[in-house]
Amino acid sequence: MAVGIFDSGLGGLTVLDAVTKRLPEVPFVYFGDNAHAPYGVRDADDVYQLTTAAVERLWGAGCDLVILACNTASAAALRRMQESWVPPEKRVLGVFVPLIEALTERQWGDNSPPREVAVKHVALFATPATVSSRAFQRELAFRAIGVDVEAQSCGGVVDAIEEGDEILAEALVRSHVDALKRKMPRPDAAVLGCTHYPLMERVFQDALGDDVKVFSQAHLVAESLADYLDRRPEMIGPGTESLFLTTGDPKRVSDKATQFLRRRIAFEAA
Ligand code: DGL
Repeated sequence: MAVGIFDSGLGGLTVLDAVTKRLPEVPFVYFGDNAHAPYGVRDADDVYQLTTAAVERLWGAGCDLVILACNTASAAALRRMQESWVPPEKRVLGVFVPLIEALTERQWGDNSPPREVAVKHVALFATPATVSSRAFQRELAFRAIGVDVEAQSCGGVVDAIEEGDEILAEALVRSHVDALKRKMPRPDAAVLGCTHYPLMERVFQDALGDDVKVFSQAHLVAESLADYLDRRPEMIGPGTESLFLTTGDPKRVSDKATQFLRRRIAFEAA
């Protein structure tokens, strides 16, 4: 009974935390590809190779369903994986669709043609690889018309958060929001399209102003997973143990993860 959660590193722990709270009876196997993080500056082929290797390891740990908590992997590799790589008895899902369903106020499985929605001007904050994939705009176009998306690639923010340098992370977020506002002065919604940005949500909200609705993923992904498992309970795989796997140094990664989540986390070598 296990579900896999994949991320390039530690950022996906924001998603792990939310899904564990929402589904306390489900064991989760977390895989952090810390040896190869960050993904946000890699090209799409590279992200595809690394993500498929990690997902295979999660299948090996008894997870038939894997959630790509990493936005960069969801944006740059997921469609290719679903089209030509994932076998019929397994599932790999990403983090963009739940977010876009929330943004466009659609229920799961609503495949009606794209329609006009309340939001008109959306700011997307994400890594350089996610921005250049244009996956967010593509998924949005399947569901909504007339929405103007301005994407801001937020170089440096992930590294500053990983280094624990909150002052630098805050300064970078404010400068990326300023840059976005020069291109789109009045967004009505903003999407935090990277695992790490929920940790800076207060700064994004402050810099954007109270009238901008900020969409952050962890909670939306948890709700969407709970809904999915209600409909497809057979997708909870045979694994029975919660585990934390890393391609990095388990001791170092465990210490950082413990700081990140403010509870003791013990990683083992993937
Ligand atoms: N996990 C990545 C994401 O959500 C951010 C970190 C990275 O660049 O690897 O896009």
